[in-house]
Amino acid sequence: MTDIDRLVRPHLAEVRTYGSMDPPEVLARRAGIPTDRIVKLNGNENPYGPSPRAREAVAAVPLHVYPDPLQRSIRESLSEYTEIGPEHLIAGAGADELIDLVFRLFVSPGDRIVDCDPTFAMYAFLARVSDAEIAMVPRDDLFDVDAAAVKHAIDDKTKVIFITSPNNPTGNVTGEREVLELLETGRVVVVDEAYFEFCGRTVAGLVPNHDNLVVLRTLSKWAGIAGLRFGYGIMSSGIARRLMDIKQPYNVNVAAEAAASASLADAPALLANVGKIVAERERLFSALSAMPGVTPTPSHGNFVLCQVAPGTAGEVYEDLAGKGVFVRMFDSPRLADCFRVAVGAPSDSDAFLEALDGLV
Ligand SMILES: Cc1ncc(COP(=O)(O)O)c(C=O)c1O
Repeated sequence: MTDIDRLVRPHLAEVRTYGSMDPPEVLARRAGIPTDRIVKLNGNENPYGPSPRAREAVAAVPLHVYPDPLQRSIRESLSEYTEIGPEHLIAGAGADELIDLVFRLFVSPGDRIVDCDPTFAMYAFLARVSDAEIAMVPRDDLFDVDAAAVKHAIDDKTKVIFITSPNNPTGNVTGEREVLELLETGRVVVVDEAYFEFCGRTVAGLVPNHDNLVVLRTLSKWAGIAGLRFGYGIMSSGIARRLMDIKQPYNVNVAAEAAASASLADAPALLANVGKIVAERERLFSALSAMPGVTPTPSHGNFVLCQVAPGTAGEVYEDLAGKGVFVRMFDSPRLADCFRVAVGAPSDSDAFLEALDGLV
């Protein structure tokens, strides 16, 4: 037998992996109820699902032909949606793939990234996989990015600063002023706008004048095609060209591309669903605010962070799961007393609120 462990790159031998979600059937089995009865609010997924036009496009796409490695057609469609030239755009198998590509392009082993805790765990995970150092800069009491502390954390080895806006899981937006301040450091600044459509605030307008800015977006949330994996980035043509050069040639599969294109063409209908989710977010937030024992954080995303009494979050999570309601817990010590609940349809919120009532 080969001693595979000796061949594995040392930093990957015991790497701490990403805490991902189990699929619905596994959650259902755990709760002991049929899959169609679980209330899955742990992945910020879209309760209204994809556009019917996306389903039709996927059904009609020829599956035996490779996708266009240069993504010509979909970059044109994205260009119309974002109102920025196709040379500034690149599509990926989810925004996650684009985060991975940013690491591949800029971060060598021993380099450093700046991450603003608490936030989306993907940046730190990919830093670990890349054997990079992570300067973890705490967000302030309101979970805002502390730009001065971020600048202070930068050293010669620092290549990329990650900002999530709206931030997952806290739901707050980072202002253009802070982003501009960070761009002045000359490091690559990634602003992950996965939840842009739920708040309408973006820094994409800074791209033409800032060649170190990378804005990431996804169709997982507003367009309801998380399962197909489609995200895109907006950036200087220089970075876009280099990312195009190093990506897997056929990174976006034909079904994802067809669904993305149909979704962009049907954006008004999908954005009407976003409107329903935003209205439901406000209703959910009010109901949570009125519930003793829970402190919700105002959110610009399709989720709400909820704080419960010290030491009880794990129990609340398990009790909810036992009732077939699944929310998200976090590793960050600052969120030890918190869970995140996605905004679903009104019936999802009702089921969640009913299950939560009496647990807190
Ligand atoms: C902030 C943030 N960025 C990126 C992603 C991943 O998006 P995608 O599904 O396009 O990979 C998520 C998913 O939850 C997210 O919350």
